[in-house]
Amino acid sequence: MTTSTLRGKTYFIRTFGCQMNLHDSERVSGLFDSLGALEVAEPAQADIVVFMTCCVREAADTRLYGQCNSCKSLPPAPSGTRVIAVGGCIAQRDGEGLLTNVDNVDVIFGTHSIAHVGELIADAFEQGGRQVRTEEHEAVDATSMPWHRATSYHAWVPIMTGCNNFCTYCIVPYVRGREKSRPMEQVVDEVTGLVRQGVREVTLLGQNVNSYGRDLFGEPRFAELLRRVGDTGVERITFTSSHPKDLLPETIDAMAELPAVMPHLHLAVQSGSTRVLKAMNRRYTREYYLELVDAVREKVPGIALTTDIIVGFPGETEEDFEETLSLAEQVRYAQAFTFIYSKRDGTPAAKIDDPTPREVILGRFDRLVKVIESTAYDFNQGALHTRVPALIEGSSKKNDRVLQGKSPWNQTVHCPLPEGAQVEDYVGRIVDVDVDLARTWYLSGQLVGGPR
Ligand code: SAM
Ligand code: SF4
Ligand code: F3S
Repeated sequence: MTTSTLRGKTYFIRTFGCQMNLHDSERVSGLFDSLGALEVAEPAQADIVVFMTCCVREAADTRLYGQCNSCKSLPPAPSGTRVIAVGGCIAQRDGEGLLTNVDNVDVIFGTHSIAHVGELIADAFEQGGRQVRTEEHEAVDATSMPWHRATSYHAWVPIMTGCNNFCTYCIVPYVRGREKSRPMEQVVDEVTGLVRQGVREVTLLGQNVNSYGRDLFGEPRFAELLRRVGDTGVERITFTSSHPKDLLPETIDAMAELPAVMPHLHLAVQSGSTRVLKAMNRRYTREYYLELVDAVREKVPGIALTTDIIVGFPGETEEDFEETLSLAEQVRYAQAFTFIYSKRDGTPAAKIDDPTPREVILGRFDRLVKVIESTAYDFNQGALHTRVPALIEGSSKKNDRVLQGKSPWNQTVHCPLPEGAQVEDYVGRIVDVDVDLARTWYLSGQLVGGPR
């Protein structure tokens, strides 16, 4: 194979799933760019179509099969041949087994094989036939690959890959492998370079950032990493995800002391019932979680707390669910991702029978969503008639004369674009907004002064 085959070819990448996948797509895209391929906006214009897949819930699987099948009705590729590649977590889980659900896939590359996607695609063009690579361990560190960022002002920075936690419902440890931290110097150097390129916000990524460094130093060193990243001068630091069992007091102190660390913490609770948490192998209790929330709020007053919650874990009773509801009411989350439990083959929870009727689970889900909507609304009301700095990301989907940005508390902020100004003049800049409207999912107000 010669990767020069990719020169002049057009490519399109669609990404499903979490930020890890988004970042992996940026690496795949960076690799394609370095080989002379050109990104296009639609699969119809592409010689190479890549799907970066997720299998955390069943719906994500089904969506992939639909997307692959819809490629069959695309017009011919510009070069005459179209290669369809599937990467990410479904590719890692199923390998060639994927072909029982879709028959038009040419390349399958797992989560540890993204450094090889250029060769695999070149082979598919040159030799035809199916190319599959799903090794268990990464031979080439993907973080050393070129990188094509979606925006100039924000960067996802992986600080570790994999997960050691084996929550009983979750497929991630099986498709992403064990925790592997990047050397601290490497992360700090990367952020330093990003700051030089004009990046204003970095999001440190890991399935459980709080255990960062355990595999390197024998103990977690996330607080130290936060301080070192703070020293680079980057203006905004966010991170995700945090496992409550590993959130150390020193990390809360670093959050409180470092002005660049945004006052937002995503602390997945999953359930408010200690019994269910035990069955989920989360290794904390309801009481421990609530104490942690108090400790965080004491050190970082006004912090936006967000979470993930699963409804309908096998065997969840009405009583268990009411404990989740009451915990959500007590914590008063600024936002929450709520999920209906999805059985994942190969996980321990998949073996637990559950007699709970689907309508009961759906009913519980709706009740939880109502509580979250009400606490999210209340959280945003707290910003009414205050001035918030918003990092502008673009224009609102509904109105291209309205700017859209993010507050330090991770709130979506809207304000009108000044007469005669262009959205591009504001993207990646921070503006002050006097908030005069606070809704459940966004704030809106008037621009004060210019962008900085
Ligand atoms: N590592 C992160 C953490 O623990 O916070 C989350 C990773 S996972 C990609 C995102 C969320 O998906 C989890 O927090 C959980 O709420 C949800 N999830 C994982 N497996 C699930 C399943 N089988 N059914 C429903 N939701 C699931
Ligand atoms: Fe999945 Fe649990 Fe790991 Fe998060 S911590 S990725 S929920 S196993
Ligand atoms: Fe999905 Fe894989 Fe992320 S299963 S949530 S894309 S780690």
